Amino acid sequence: MSTLKLPGLIDPHVHLREPGATHKEDWHSGTAAALAGGFTCVLDMPNNTPPITDADALRAKQRAASEKAVCDYGIHFGAGTDNVAIAASLASQVTGLKMYLDQTFGPLRLDGLESLVSHSSAFPKDVPVLCHAEGRTVAAAIFIAHLFDRSVHICHVSRKDEIELIRKAKEKGIRVTCEVTPHHLFLTLDDCAAIGVGRCEVRPMLATRADVEALRANLDSVDCFATDHAPHTLEEKDSPAPPPGYPGLETALALYLELVREDILTFDDVIARCYENPRRIFNVPAQEETWIEVDTDAEWIARGAEMQTRAKWTPFEGRTLRGKVTRVVLRGQVVFENGCVLAKPGRGRNVRPEL
Ligand code: DOR
Ligand code: ZN
Ligand code: ZN
Repeated sequence: MSTLKLPGLIDPHVHLREPGATHKEDWHSGTAAALAGGFTCVLDMPNNTPPITDADALRAKQRAASEKAVCDYGIHFGAGTDNVAIAASLASQVTGLKMYLDQTFGPLRLDGLESLVSHSSAFPKDVPVLCHAEGRTVAAAIFIAHLFDRSVHICHVSRKDEIELIRKAKEKGIRVTCEVTPHHLFLTLDDCAAIGVGRCEVRPMLATRADVEALRANLDSVDCFATDHAPHTLEEKDSPAPPPGYPGLETALALYLELVREDILTFDDVIARCYENPRRIFNVPAQEETWIEVDTDAEWIARGAEMQTRAKWTPFEGRTLRGKVTRVVLRGQVVFENGCVLAKPGRGRNVRPEL
């Protein structure tokens, strides 16, 4: 066995579902899944019910998180059509402003240009705006970064044309960063038959082999890995109207390590994308005396039923993975060991001040 000691990983894009849908996940089950996957900090998305688009909703989420989280966390605020001034005024309490430029799960889609432009100009330039952007809206997001000389982070890039455009924008010095998910690096549309039609639904949708190869060929333009952990129950996924999204926190690290074994990345490259870059882009403070221990040789079979996530399924069901988190130490205390979460609810801290 070879045990590797790594910094606590940061996932800049998760959906922990509380408030509003705790039957899918809550701050305890979601952060427990994070620890099991080697993440000591997760940044949570605002497409809740109600959406996190005003001060009251933010406060309610802060309260739930502070009572239940077992790892550290940050909260991304949601851009709506009528909350430009509110969003800017709350910027110091959040890790980013999420703009949904395409249809996905929840009510936060921004149609048209007006809100994109007004939020991008009003929101503090050093706090990233994050865009759910696909196809042509990727070009719109890049243009916004250029026009306002501001930080724009493109979520879950999934296609060849998108990553190639981002590469060119970076070469021009535009302040655009991006993330890629494990599912878009390891699955294609051809996997849908095995995963199941409803379970396969995700936004952006899985793409082609050529897209996966383009993402892998352009990993030097990929700043962060992000799971986009988006739990829905099996009952929902197998229903006639399956919501899009995959749980991902507990399978991610083993998949990232597969890229090392395939000689596509080095260990240091993985650390850059799971720790250093997310920390820099989202201004996450250092976690003192915090690390994870990973048995890089341990083989295990992905089984949703055995996971911490309340979703209890995975698109990688049955796949043999290599690399298992054996221990997580958060601020000097063992919070996860050999499959067990040892931290008490409330152990996790917000990485931003709550005012
Ligand atoms: O598949 C997705 N699910 N994509 C998103 O952008 C949202 C997410 C969710 O919240 O379920
Ligand atoms: Zn998204
Ligand atoms: Zn998402």
